[in-house]
Amino acid sequence: MIIVLDGPAGTGKSTVSREIASRLGLSFLDTGAMYRAMTYWLLQNGVDVNDPDAVALASSKPVILSGTDAGGPTITVDGVDVSGPIRGTEVTGAVSAVSAVPEVRTRLVELQRGSAEAAPRGIVAEGRDMGTVVFPAADLKVFLTASASIRAVRRAAQLGVTDPAGTAAILADIERRDAFDSGRATSPLAKAEDAVEVDTSTMTPDEVIAHILGLVRERA
Ligand code: C5P
Repeated sequence: MIIVLDGPAGTGKSTVSREIASRLGLSFLDTGAMYRAMTYWLLQNGVDVNDPDAVALASSKPVILSGTDAGGPTITVDGVDVSGPIRGTEVTGAVSAVSAVPEVRTRLVELQRGSAEAAPRGIVAEGRDMGTVVFPAADLKVFLTASASIRAVRRAAQLGVTDPAGTAAILADIERRDAFDSGRATSPLAKAEDAVEVDTSTMTPDEVIAHILGLVRERA
């Protein structure tokens, strides 16, 4: 079974996907973490992330391994666990430019499909192009949305940011990434035609999880 969740930053994709995977006994794949891990390696190795040719050339070098255990997925680059550093502001600021480079996507999509093939019972995969490009034949496709301001408040709470200026900066970053991810030529953030759209603006994570588990049951 393959279940995919796509949508912009801060819609609750990770929390919801992980919980659904855990409740259904499926593996879990956070594909945003893979783009972040690639970005982290490029920054660490002095590659200019705004030079698509340099990024394309270097993108075959890092060994990225994404764990698929819903209980505590880890991500390593060249054997080092980078789960913490990939959430930092430097990576967050650079990841959209890196993920727009076609060579990066080709490489990571191959890894993502490999993870799904290796998953014993199936997988819940979350990202931006899961339903449109990576798993077009998924059993269930969900597209999560929420207003940008609500997504910024949620992200601020996650990061422990409490001041209005900090929240405003997070909102600006979310809007910048949304525009970049939706506007890029290769695999833009988009709802697949056969995806079910769920607006999470006024829903708690538990409500979103229950709703999606209902959709899974309908299809069983
Ligand atoms: O989901 P997360 O916010 O961690 O994703 C980080 C970035 O990785 C996104 O802003 C997007 O640029 C990129 N991404 C992507 N395709 C995916 C998952 C993430 O381009 N499938």
